[in-house]
Amino acid sequence: MMTEQNFISEFPYNFVEKGEVQAQCSSNIALVKYWGKYANQIPANPSISYTLTNSCTQTSIQFEKAEKMSVKVFLDEVLQEKFAEKIEKYFNSIQKYLPFITQYQYVIRTHNSFPHSSGIASSASGFGAIALCLIEIAEQLGEVFPSEMKKRKASFLARLGSGSACRSLYGGLAVWGKHEKIHESSDLYAVPFPFEIHENFKKIQDTVLLIHEGEKKVSSTVGHKLLENHPYAQVRFAEAYKNLASMIDILRSGDLEAFGQLVEHEALTLHAMMLTSTPAFILMKPMTVAAIEKIWNYRKLTGQPLYFTLDAGANIHLLYPEKDKNVIFNFIKNDLLKYTENGDYIRDESRL
Ligand code: PMV
Repeated sequence: MMTEQNFISEFPYNFVEKGEVQAQCSSNIALVKYWGKYANQIPANPSISYTLTNSCTQTSIQFEKAEKMSVKVFLDEVLQEKFAEKIEKYFNSIQKYLPFITQYQYVIRTHNSFPHSSGIASSASGFGAIALCLIEIAEQLGEVFPSEMKKRKASFLARLGSGSACRSLYGGLAVWGKHEKIHESSDLYAVPFPFEIHENFKKIQDTVLLIHEGEKKVSSTVGHKLLENHPYAQVRFAEAYKNLASMIDILRSGDLEAFGQLVEHEALTLHAMMLTSTPAFILMKPMTVAAIEKIWNYRKLTGQPLYFTLDAGANIHLLYPEKDKNVIFNFIKNDLLKYTENGDYIRDESRL
């Protein structure tokens, strides 16, 4: 079992004058949600997600020796001052794990494959890509990681930037948070789903309906915090733990119906926690609810395995198996796009 101590580096770096690294990381969508945390980004319950393929962030970091650390960030060539402040704070907070970090100044250039206004969270792929870049820099300065440790440390570092980002370092399914059914699991980093999964859940399709484009009203930082004083928090954490155990069995057995039921329950529970926070907040939009009713109706009428999940936002992630993708995608195009703000959607999938 690894502890925080395993991620502290005391390596005698070979401080090069300057260099450049780059990395790419995909976003992820949780099936069992993480909502609520303790100090130092320790999750209140374990979670599991699919890493996506097309929704990703590409980042390059130029670093150069400097008297004092500084960070500049460009998103698609546009200077981002607020983001730079956040990253500089983040870099300072992870000094213990990467002691070279304060010795350089950094120019970070980043690009998301999805539009900035799409309401798709870029924090998971963004922090995942930055964490990978930092590990690359450590390697350029001579640090050697045992093979499994490289991803694990990137996941550990990504978690300290944005909790759910730690699950984005692996393709396919990843689990974050200690769970008795997953021997290697940890609150400190994510691990790849360790079991063989049923054919039905390989290459799961995720089409995201962009119901609301633009910033959401309440950030997940605020949302997590509201669980500290929430009447249902402990019940929720215990249920999520149980739901992860059920999800492990479902993913191995291939039971699509049980998968859909659990995934939708998780999504609606996440939003129910928002509705019952004090103060309450609602991130779904009227069209989110209308589209959910349409999906339920379609399933009732046709029996097609089309299910939804939600992030902390109004957009709907439509999940369905690859074998049914043509017929289901036709339905999405013909009957669900009308619920989106501008007819926009993102077509993605999770590849192992
Ligand atoms: O990683 P954060 O702090 O942005 O939290 C995200 C939480 C959800 O996306 C709502 C759920 C999850 O497990 O990804």
